[in-house]
Amino acid sequence: MIMTGTGQAKTARDGRRWTLRPGRPTDGRALARLFAEVRTEGRWLITTPGSITEPSEAFWIAEMIRAAEHLVLVAEADAEVIGNILVSVDRGVATEHIGVLSITITADWRDVGIGTALVAAAQDWAVERGLRKVSLGVFPDNERALTVYERRGFVREGVRRQQYRSGTTYRDEVLMAWFPQEATR
Ligand SMILES: CC(C)(COP(=O)(O)OP(=O)(O)OC[C@H]1O[C@@H](n2cnc3c(N)ncnc32)[C@H](O)[C@@H]1OP(=O)(O)O)[C@@H](O)C(=O)NCCC(=O)NCCS
Repeated sequence: MIMTGTGQAKTARDGRRWTLRPGRPTDGRALARLFAEVRTEGRWLITTPGSITEPSEAFWIAEMIRAAEHLVLVAEADAEVIGNILVSVDRGVATEHIGVLSITITADWRDVGIGTALVAAAQDWAVERGLRKVSLGVFPDNERALTVYERRGFVREGVRRQQYRSGTTYRDEVLMAWFPQEATR
């Protein structure tokens, strides 16, 4: 699945239309805004609100898109960014066979199949790239995300206890992975 140009037209489970397309460097600001918005929900993302500025994140995302080794896909509707999946790969290190996945869908567009579609597209890319492993971290109470990852064949590798501080509490992180060469997809 090499996606070029304007991307693929899709229909959400509730009938709304959206487009899956590759990220462009000019998406940096919209993606930084999306991440900031979802961080303010305070439940799903590892990084806490205020820990990173939007301009610096927009710059970092644009650089990531320019660097060919990563995957950045955007879900778009009515010319607005509504979701994103990232798979980052560190080249030249002993873990260069691994892609690290993160995904974010704006609240209004959850539970209509977009996350599952984005994860499937990232898995196709991982196969094309010859990656041996796609890994991710998720909070144990993020049932929706766990549903999507398990549906797509990710397995639990372990739990890092009290890995992240959230205000005055500490949250565990579930580590999950998908192994392309072992998958029957
Ligand atoms: C997690 C996320 C990426 C999933 O994407 P999505 O587009 O909402 O997912 P989908 O619609 O493809 O699938 C969600 C599934 O979870 C199910 N679900 C929703 N809430 C659930 C819950 N509390 N418990 C179990 N399943 C749940 C939905 O019913 C749906 O299953 P179905 O297709 O069988 O009905 C998206 O919701 C999101 O971005 N959430 C906020 C940020 C986040 O959590 N990112 C991941 C961090 S690891």
